[in-house]
Amino acid sequence: MALNYPSIKTKLPGPKAARVVMRTEENVSPSYTYAYPLVVENASGAKVTDVDGNTFLDFAAGIAVCSTGHCHPKVVAAIKSQAEKLLHMSGTDFYYPQQVNLAEQLAEVTPIKGKKKVFFCNSGAEAVEGAMKLARWHTKRKQYIAFFGAFHGRTFGAVSLTASKATQRAFYFPGVPGVTHVSYAYCYRCPYNLKKESCGSYCVKWIEDQIFKTIVPADEVAAIIVEPIQGEGGYVVPPPEFHIALKKLCEKHGILYIADEVQSGMGRTGKMFAIEHFGVEPDIICTAKGIASGMPLGAFIAKSDVMNWTPGAHASTFGGNPVSCEAAIATIELLKEGLMQNASKVGEHMITELIRMKNEYELIGDVRGLGLMLGVELVKNRETRERAGEERNKIVQKCFEKGLLILGCGANTIRFCPPLTITKEEADKALEIFEECLSSVR
Ligand SMILES: Cc1ncc(COP(=O)(O)O)c(C=O)c1O
Repeated sequence: MALNYPSIKTKLPGPKAARVVMRTEENVSPSYTYAYPLVVENASGAKVTDVDGNTFLDFAAGIAVCSTGHCHPKVVAAIKSQAEKLLHMSGTDFYYPQQVNLAEQLAEVTPIKGKKKVFFCNSGAEAVEGAMKLARWHTKRKQYIAFFGAFHGRTFGAVSLTASKATQRAFYFPGVPGVTHVSYAYCYRCPYNLKKESCGSYCVKWIEDQIFKTIVPADEVAAIIVEPIQGEGGYVVPPPEFHIALKKLCEKHGILYIADEVQSGMGRTGKMFAIEHFGVEPDIICTAKGIASGMPLGAFIAKSDVMNWTPGAHASTFGGNPVSCEAAIATIELLKEGLMQNASKVGEHMITELIRMKNEYELIGDVRGLGLMLGVELVKNRETRERAGEERNKIVQKCFEKGLLILGCGANTIRFCPPLTITKEEADKALEIFEECLSSVR
């Protein structure tokens, strides 16, 4: 049966949407970065309906959040049932079973061996912030290493680690002291002009040979914080040797390896956490976004002997509220029951098609990704790899006008991060619209 969405019936934004946009501009913080004037009325699976009755195919999933699709019936049922019993109690001062039930489930699916402990918060930035604090508390060291291109959130600690867009940091200096940025293994644009087959993870060696020898003594570094796959920075997938070498470096110097899986985790890449693709065991894993299918929740999970801080060292009033915990338990069940598998299967189909497009359209410089975390980097010229940022933005707009919701990342990359429920048919529809828009932009 043919899909009956997307279907665009009005000019965009439609009349009702335009009013909401106008009222938003008058009343809501101007710091938000709307990609296009989509005003949502309701959504189900990968189908989004706007306030004027237009329908869209969602390949952005509320920025990689609606892992089980919009309003999955099992998640909604779990939320409703919990909301009737208990909305809030504050898990930092009182006990309730939902929080520990989820902690046990998370410990089971987290790729860290042995006993683990979980801290609950409300967002990705809070998870990163907490992990930064834990790293200092546990090691009694003060320095951090983070990466160019990284995005870890907007709070002061997290934004001090972030190095993806200067606008995100402008006028906020000084940030949290003790952060040194180094190059990520962005092999398509190797900052050292080397070949990944023969570089011997030069970007990790550089930390040891340059940073540790010249400006930051290794034994003062509490943690290296890294996204297994860079998200906002451009959906950059490093070679496995990068993470393996980084972990070795951490082990050698007693540094904690923190994997920020806020965007790449919770089944998105076809495994529960993306770091599993690289065969590395982190000391701390940060998660949020897809964890509760859209309910606000963040967490970081660490080995029990790393999370050894004492009462009062860190806490959160709302973190791990019972409704979000129940939504997360339902989400994990759905991921394990088939959605991770679906992410691998449909993701493989999509990447094959995107590589086919790369062979046909000069504008595509690189196609990369795992599962349903897929990036298409656009270039003006394949030789010089000049970034095609304006073209990228035009394609995102054109897709919106045709009913496909996608987002950019980095300066010139398009990301596909749909709900993990998408069917091959939905993927084909999205690819068809994308190709139409791609071919119309020169
Ligand atoms: C890798 C990563 N870490 C942290 C964050 C911050 O998450 P939040 O917006 O929930 O604070 C994001 C958000 O995009 C992210 O992609």
